[in-house]
Amino acid sequence: MRCNVSKLGCRSFEHVITRIKYTYCFSFYLCKKYILEPSTSTKPAPANIAQLRNDFPILNQTIYNKRKLVYLDNAATSQKPQAVIDAISKYYQLYNANVHRGVHYLSQQASQAYDDVRKSLSQFINARGEEEIVFTSGTTHSINLVAFTWGRKNVQAGDEIILSAMEHHSNIVPWQMLCEEKGARLQIIPMNDKGELLVEQLPSLINDKTKLIACVYMSNSLGTINPVREIIEMAHARQIPVMLDGAQAISHFEIDVQQLDCDFFVCSAHKMLGPTGTGFLYAKREILEQMPPYMGGGDMIRNVSFEKTTYNDIPFRFEAGTPNVEGVIGFGAAIEYWNQLNRKAVAAYEQELVDYCTKALSQIPQVRLYGTAANKASVISFTIQNVNALDAGMYLDTLGIAVRTGQHCTEPVMHFFDIPGTIRASFYFYNNKEDCDTFIEGVSKAIRLLGK
Ligand code: ALA
Repeated sequence: MRCNVSKLGCRSFEHVITRIKYTYCFSFYLCKKYILEPSTSTKPAPANIAQLRNDFPILNQTIYNKRKLVYLDNAATSQKPQAVIDAISKYYQLYNANVHRGVHYLSQQASQAYDDVRKSLSQFINARGEEEIVFTSGTTHSINLVAFTWGRKNVQAGDEIILSAMEHHSNIVPWQMLCEEKGARLQIIPMNDKGELLVEQLPSLINDKTKLIACVYMSNSLGTINPVREIIEMAHARQIPVMLDGAQAISHFEIDVQQLDCDFFVCSAHKMLGPTGTGFLYAKREILEQMPPYMGGGDMIRNVSFEKTTYNDIPFRFEAGTPNVEGVIGFGAAIEYWNQLNRKAVAAYEQELVDYCTKALSQIPQVRLYGTAANKASVISFTIQNVNALDAGMYLDTLGIAVRTGQHCTEPVMHFFDIPGTIRASFYFYNNKEDCDTFIEGVSKAIRLLGK
């Protein structure tokens, strides 16, 4: 009896053999690396990292014509484990109330839960204390807060702020707005064709007018992990503070703000398994103490009269109004989830998936990769010859594959490479080998169908 190779999703009998070999070798490699080999980390490696996928109910569904969902848009937002969904649901079912404003039982329960998250988050990033954590609606809010409190106070006409060539719009526009208001200007650390920052040029950009360096830790459109320790050392040698955009970085490796010695660190919960609309600003205590308030309202005050208002202590001084209680509680559950994982093992597993897909894509002549830095994670950005990125994204979607297409809120990066946009596949530890194969096959099909 002849084997129908097309039913196996293969082009030929040789293709079937190659897939079996690949699958066998890859599975054996992962098994040996993460299950059989003991981890050097203090936390145990999960028995089987691939099984963590079962914690994410959204991934266990079929879409369109019974296509299995392949979610590769993780740099845009991560999926949520059941524990996070349950924590939010439990809050609404059992103790929904406003925080820091009620003596009643529900308010006390909600306030306690909310305050506990600030504590666990400060431990998670190794801040010196809870007062160094300000809850915000996300990275963008946090950067705007720094620009319009610290920035307005410290940046004057003629001053300079240094950014990198691969910033997200959220780490460009607030600084441009501040520069316009103050008559200051931006300086940019350039990058090379691999998407690596030319940090050796940083000393020549720093001068007496430099007031801040604001830099992305890990690029959302290229995946580059920047040498932020080196940048911080150069900046601190000239007493210049550094703000790190950690929105992508925190999902893929451990963050220790004391070891980094960054002055500000900003992040969104939704990139790291938590809910949308929640994030934080970390700032060194002595810097936060000196920052004027941002928004005015309840909870950020000590006393209010029509003549004068006095302000609350840090961090509450920066949290006006009813906060996103459900978001923070969900964020707490996400942190608890991370705390159970051996992060090094999880990140290494994720890197294997990325390397596997990168290798496969780089063997396709019509594919061009963008962002080939030696130190990168989780993101594969690419174009397909003669295929519009948006068309490719829409076609992949019909196969159940979710990727992002376009500029990824990094228009200057696209200008640098002189392209209108890329197709971006971004990975998380809950992706698996099957996702990778479906994605690679999907790109090949897109080429065959659209690349004429
Ligand atoms: N910053 C998000 C992304 O990279 C939205 O897709």
